[in-house]
Amino acid sequence: MSNAAVAWKGSIIGWVGPDAELPIEWMSESQINAGGRLVVPGLVDCHTHLAFGGWRADEFEDRIKGESYLDIAKRGGGIMRTVSQTRGSSMEALLSKSDAFLVEMRALGVTTVEAKSGYGLTVTDEMKQLRVYKSLARRQPTRIVPTFLAHTVPPEYSEDRDSYVRMLTDALIPNIAGEKLAKFCDVFVEEGAFTLDEGREILTAGQKAGLIPKIHADQFHDLGGAMLAAKLRAASADHLECVSKEGIAALAAAGTVAVSLPLAALYLGQDPLPARELIEAGVPVAVATDFNPGSAPSFHLPMAMTLACVRQKMTPAEALKGATLIAARALHLDTIVGSVEVGKSADLVILDAPDVNHWLYHFRSNVAHTVILKGNAYPSDH
Ligand code: NIG
Ligand code: FE
Repeated sequence: MSNAAVAWKGSIIGWVGPDAELPIEWMSESQINAGGRLVVPGLVDCHTHLAFGGWRADEFEDRIKGESYLDIAKRGGGIMRTVSQTRGSSMEALLSKSDAFLVEMRALGVTTVEAKSGYGLTVTDEMKQLRVYKSLARRQPTRIVPTFLAHTVPPEYSEDRDSYVRMLTDALIPNIAGEKLAKFCDVFVEEGAFTLDEGREILTAGQKAGLIPKIHADQFHDLGGAMLAAKLRAASADHLECVSKEGIAALAAAGTVAVSLPLAALYLGQDPLPARELIEAGVPVAVATDFNPGSAPSFHLPMAMTLACVRQKMTPAEALKGATLIAARALHLDTIVGSVEVGKSADLVILDAPDVNHWLYHFRSNVAHTVILKGNAYPSDH
């Protein structure tokens, strides 16, 4: 809509429509003039691994030289490397590091961020990561959605995987749910991580405790992750670079959101998920960053959206919906955020772009002019 106006009271949108029709009771002294710029809903990054210790830039070089992501993991690099660095980081260090990420993400227009644990792997260390998210949610305005992620089996349990799964289902998950430290339970079903059966057990225990399932599914191998996501009515199945035709049909029938992670596919040199096939089958496709120190060391959601257009053949409008309303649905937050509608949170981004096509086509470091989060404006100083 051109020449539109949006009015809100406190943090909630109360009126949306043509500027000329703005009712007098919604006129206010405090106005933000978008100056003819594009206004979109606050962006929702529905898949990140936000808090982690250290980085893995040396593995970036190793992969360029030909070593695979899974081979690096087999020799103790990859996720386990970040696990030791995260275990060795204090809560305060993790907090200030991820707080700084959120400030930069907000400047790009990201107003809601899902954040996974998964770099602790013990009760204490997983809870520590989730407590970082709880503190972050209190000390800064971005909406944080915490997810417990069963990421991999630590080497100390490699000979007794069953005990590790029992520890997750009988101790860690109930503790997390008891303290309300997570909304979702996610599991990485992959060779070198969890099997499909282990994934089912973990997610079922999560469901029993009140945590909604999500899956890192079919990233490198089709192990049936998408089918499991559909069967458990998961909120989303994420990655899906290797999803099968049956997996796509199952997701469509279940109404599960497919979360595309174009930055991870790009950094790992993979073909992205078959977005067109998914969309044509009726699966809603979200776009997220997967921000983490290994497979996707960038939190630039607009860049992921441009990649979704170029590599996944999503239209700019589909990419925008994928990083707003569909992403909100992947977080079961679509009644609160993800679109500019009466009753939703006043989360808006004013962009220095004439339209959505132009925004995602002419890639720039940051196009956001002003970010409005829960009704408060944050100028973006780019
Ligand atoms: O979503 N696939 C598993 N987990 C992350 C990567 C985590 C890491 O490399 O540290 C992902 O790509
Ligand atoms: Fe991930």
